[in-house]
Amino acid sequence: MGKSKDKTAKSAKWIRRMKEMWQQAQSDLCEVRHSQIHGRGVYATCDIAKDDKIIEYVGELIDKKESEKRANLQAERAAEHGEAAVYIFTVDDEYDLDGNLPWNTARLINHSCEPNCEAWIDDTRIFIHALRDIKKGEELTFDYGFDIETWEDHPCLCGRPSCVGHIVSRTQWDELAKRKAAKQKHHQSRKRKPKVK
Ligand SMILES: C[S@@+](CC[C@H](N)C(=O)[O-])C[C@H]1O[C@@H](n2cnc3c(N)ncnc32)[C@H](O)[C@@H]1O
Ligand SMILES: [Zn+2]
Repeated sequence: MGKSKDKTAKSAKWIRRMKEMWQQAQSDLCEVRHSQIHGRGVYATCDIAKDDKIIEYVGELIDKKESEKRANLQAERAAEHGEAAVYIFTVDDEYDLDGNLPWNTARLINHSCEPNCEAWIDDTRIFIHALRDIKKGEELTFDYGFDIETWEDHPCLCGRPSCVGHIVSRTQWDELAKRKAAKQKHHQSRKRKPKVK
């Protein structure tokens, strides 16, 4: 009897948390549509002013150990079936947020080299804000901030004039240019290698 009461209380708590997360993930300012960049994307349903809060990126708060485990699992799945989407967001040095929940609309926001949004972290919550005024119908994007070490795995299709061709944090664009130039040089010197007769 005690055990079943305990189970019921746990289940009610879990349902309350799910409902709360679902409510937190709602926004009238954006909707999901087919994207020109990749798969599905998120679009503004009205004009949005610079700095306005657009939507919360909801998910499960996990520690770095659990996060690494999930990221590795994701990488294995990607290698096997080509599923490459990663929904884990860095919160701070201790925690990440796994946003892989069907009602987390913000998880579908694509990356752009000229983003119109950015993520603001408030304690352990993540909110997507407008980086500039956004017109109704524009696709929402932010800088995924991917590390330079994986640049070759993530070609960028954002199509913006300043696109650097790969999804890499803007803070590492200088390093990206250096690595691309070095790769190009290596490629050319291999092409020019004389043939041994
Ligand atoms: C979190 S999902 C974003 C939603 C995705 N469009 C979808 O339909 O599932 C992240 C994945 O979307 C793709 N993506 C996002 N931005 C991109 C971009 N600028 N260029 C190419 N692919 C992009 C990549 O495959 C990335 O791993
Ligand atoms: Zn780009």
